[in-house]
Amino acid sequence: MSSTEGAQAPGPGCSPGSQRLFQDRLSCALLLPLLLLPLLLLAWGLLLGRQRGVPPGPRPWPLVGNLGFVLLPAALKRWSSSLPSPLRCVPRPREPRLSSPQVILAHMARLYGPIFSFYLGPYLVVVLCDFHSVREALVQQAEVFSDRPRVPLISIFTKEKGIVFAHYGPIWRQQRKFSHSTLRHFGLGKLSLEPKIIEEFKYVKEEMQKHGGNPFNPFPIISNAISNIICSMCFGQRFEYNNGDFKKMLNLMSRGLEISINNQILLINICSWLYYLPFGVFKELRQIEKDLTIFLKGIIREHQETLDVENPQDFIDMYLLHMEEEMKNNSNSSFNEDYLFYIIGDLFIAGTDTTTNSLLWCLLYMSLNPEVQEKVHKEIEKVIGPDRAPSLTDKADMPYTEATIMEVQRMSVVVPFGIPHMTSEKTRKRVCMGEQLAKMELFLMFVSLMQTFTFTLPKDSKKPVMTGRFGLTLSPHPFNVIVSKR
Ligand code: HEM
Repeated sequence: MSSTEGAQAPGPGCSPGSQRLFQDRLSCALLLPLLLLPLLLLAWGLLLGRQRGVPPGPRPWPLVGNLGFVLLPAALKRWSSSLPSPLRCVPRPREPRLSSPQVILAHMARLYGPIFSFYLGPYLVVVLCDFHSVREALVQQAEVFSDRPRVPLISIFTKEKGIVFAHYGPIWRQQRKFSHSTLRHFGLGKLSLEPKIIEEFKYVKEEMQKHGGNPFNPFPIISNAISNIICSMCFGQRFEYNNGDFKKMLNLMSRGLEISINNQILLINICSWLYYLPFGVFKELRQIEKDLTIFLKGIIREHQETLDVENPQDFIDMYLLHMEEEMKNNSNSSFNEDYLFYIIGDLFIAGTDTTTNSLLWCLLYMSLNPEVQEKVHKEIEKVIGPDRAPSLTDKADMPYTEATIMEVQRMSVVVPFGIPHMTSEKTRKRVCMGEQLAKMELFLMFVSLMQTFTFTLPKDSKKPVMTGRFGLTLSPHPFNVIVSKR
């Protein structure tokens, strides 16, 4: 029997009878756990599925929870999809094209109701999937829902530092307060930042005009422009649109966010060592993390070498000065170089990818809906005219344009799963730190683009798939546009 192969046989002095007895016992000893294991796992699964107070959801598999689906070969997946819903690992919409994760969750909400749960490995995840429950949790009871859960994948990337994914506590409070007030010092949420955004648009215009009437992918131009705003505040510099190294960083960031919560990567939450596998998305993600780290640490080093104590130029300078000050007065200070690195990483990524994708969705929707684009053009002509640069003060007179931006944001949901929240007692509200900056960038860039150009899709191009490329952020599938000067 194969299960006894390799087991040590009794010595040559043993009788054939005692040899058989030994083999029988050995077989029993090996078989018993094998027979019991499925029963134990089933009981564990049933136990999990029956926890009191847990919102409804698909029955989890032992150990892998509802990630079991990822582990199945394709044929078994098809078979599992045809099972009655309680037996399925994760219910799937039948249309394969619709099976990106945010669509699966929306489908689950139809099956289980707007508040449902599933297991990410051993972790219970409760999903709020309608306006009322999200509002109740994140607005009306924000203080109770504002901590972040400990998720292995996130801990590997962030070492539980920075702002976005850090746990609530005195360190997060100090770091967030400092970061917010320093960004405000450099213009976050203030009209004084307007000229910088308008200035950046001039480069966007130049770059787009270089394409004449030819189709081009707007991603590299838009991401460079948006990133330059947060980079000027944090690093004190903008990057030229032909800077190959910076382009590479923007592409890596976008790719990293796309694969960071794909099915295979999520398995790291069950076995952390998978992160170190030398192939596939695991290897790719590690390389992206390494390249972005080298880039950001290089910028911090340059700042340390050239710091002018009397004349801090940007966020990093201010942080380094604050760090020195704290070191003199408080030996337990949380302000250190390591924390600076994670905060800079958060601001660079959160301040680039989200707004970039929002603006790209706006351009895509405008190209697909010329009648809406036309109405936006008309409103701009009426309120601003063809020559004056737009200002935030125009917003109040431009309800159609503002509603268009908001409707695109509603339809595209650029952070499709949000950032996970965890309940705890004494937190304070957790909200996007760059909301005002993002609104300002979106309005000024969108209006400037619409004031200058008409956007169309190339005549022979297929209609882009509008479900988007799922990741931590939801970006549109790559698309080409043609711009014509107005
Ligand atoms: C359209 C653009 C943007 C969208 C859709 C967006 C979305 C979000 C979301 C959903 C969160 C999680 C909030 C929560 O805990 O529930 C968040 C947090 C955050 N965002 Fe944004 N964001 C955008 C732009 C920006 C920009 C430009 C910055 C740059 C400063 C930024 C910095 C942050 C930071 C630092 C946090 C973490 C806040 C905390 O945990 O205390 N975001 N954002």
